[in-house]
Amino acid sequence: MSVGSARTAAELTQASESFEVVGTRPRPRPGAVVSGAEPATRIRRLLVAVSGLELAVVDHSPASADLHDERLGVAVVVIPRPDGNNHVVATTLRLVTVDRNFGPRRLGASGLEVSALGVGTNRWGGREVPEEGLRAVMKASLDAEVSFFDTAEVYTGGHSEEVLGRCCKEIGGGCTVASKFAPYPTRLVSSQLGRALEATLRRMGRDRIDLYYLHFPFSLVRIGSWMDRMAEAVSSGKIRAVGVSNCNASQMRRARDALGRHDIALAANQVQYSLLHRNPERNGVLAACRELDVALVAYRPLRGGRLQSGSSPDDEKAALSEALARIANERGVTVSQVALNWLLCQDERVIAIPGATKASHAAENAGALDFRLDNQELATLDHTVGRA
Ligand SMILES: NC(=O)c1ccc[n+]([C@@H]2O[C@H](COP(=O)([O-])OP(=O)(O)OC[C@H]3O[C@@H](n4cnc5c(N)ncnc54)[C@H](OP(=O)(O)O)[C@@H]3O)[C@@H](O)[C@H]2O)c1
Repeated sequence: MSVGSARTAAELTQASESFEVVGTRPRPRPGAVVSGAEPATRIRRLLVAVSGLELAVVDHSPASADLHDERLGVAVVVIPRPDGNNHVVATTLRLVTVDRNFGPRRLGASGLEVSALGVGTNRWGGREVPEEGLRAVMKASLDAEVSFFDTAEVYTGGHSEEVLGRCCKEIGGGCTVASKFAPYPTRLVSSQLGRALEATLRRMGRDRIDLYYLHFPFSLVRIGSWMDRMAEAVSSGKIRAVGVSNCNASQMRRARDALGRHDIALAANQVQYSLLHRNPERNGVLAACRELDVALVAYRPLRGGRLQSGSSPDDEKAALSEALARIANERGVTVSQVALNWLLCQDERVIAIPGATKASHAAENAGALDFRLDNQELATLDHTVGRA
């Protein structure tokens, strides 16, 4: 029997002398962590994410790890050796289950649910970002059950939509995708929304997208008129849910009322929100999201990647970086994970969409779903940011 035709752990063990399978389970739970126990393999930690029976491995070790037998749900790691041969290890892996603290979240009352973290793609399609790397970002994200991808017609001149569309076709079954309509001053009649949506669908190579936002409210056309066109797009099946972006509380209400006349819920308001940009707490947007049952999709949740320790010359921001680094260190997680986790802890309606063009960043960010900051840690960050 070949390794490929093995159906059980025992058969897999029989199939090759290299295999001795221990500690396997037919259906590992989402968020399981596999630890390598044999120091010689130099595998320190492998993060494993599971969708149904699919088991995928993200390598955090210097050794390159390759996968797994999906049918068995067995992690099989192939480690290239210096002599050119591959060393296959299944025996040294042990499954440790951890609970995922943040499961999917509702997009308001739209009936849709998305992963509590998404991926921002505003740099996808840029010349300096090879598409192969972006496929790896998508794969790392989906492996970790982060499946909500955010784009817009204006990102990289439409290339972000094109690349995201291609990645979804190739590997992104199960993705939820959002894009945005920009109400430029030159767009003077609301029927232009339908034409822009057609162009977005064409670029993405799809018949429908899950969520379509009005990118910003500054326009000569009233928000209500844009929402009427959004409602038409819902009824024609081209979009599943409607959102707004960069709207204040009263603009949200106007959008909600206009959609309500078509029996459609306002799904989300996408606004900037992070430890260093807490306006939604002060300007009534977070309160309106709670009152109207609308998701708050937080953009720039990592402040453009500038929350890392030592990255700010500003004393107060440096204090925040220090607090983040200390909490991250005590927990054995990273600064970005703490910053994203803090956002998710603010309200069950908050969904964060960190931008990533590196698979390692996407995998790291997904780890923010697997713990929950305690009250003391949240208070420390609140206090520090109060001074920032
Ligand atoms: N609605 C709006 O008006 C609006 C405005 C701005 C943004 N957005 C959306 O929000 C998304 C996120 O915002 P953003 O991309 O501007 O800012 P961000 O998410 O705060 O930061 C993204 C930057 O952080 C880096 N990064 C990601 N994960 C990291 C990690 N674990 N450690 C260190 N660095 C990390 C990324 O690097 P790599 O690229 O090298 O991985 C990228 O440079 C955008 O992609 C877009 O979809 C919407």
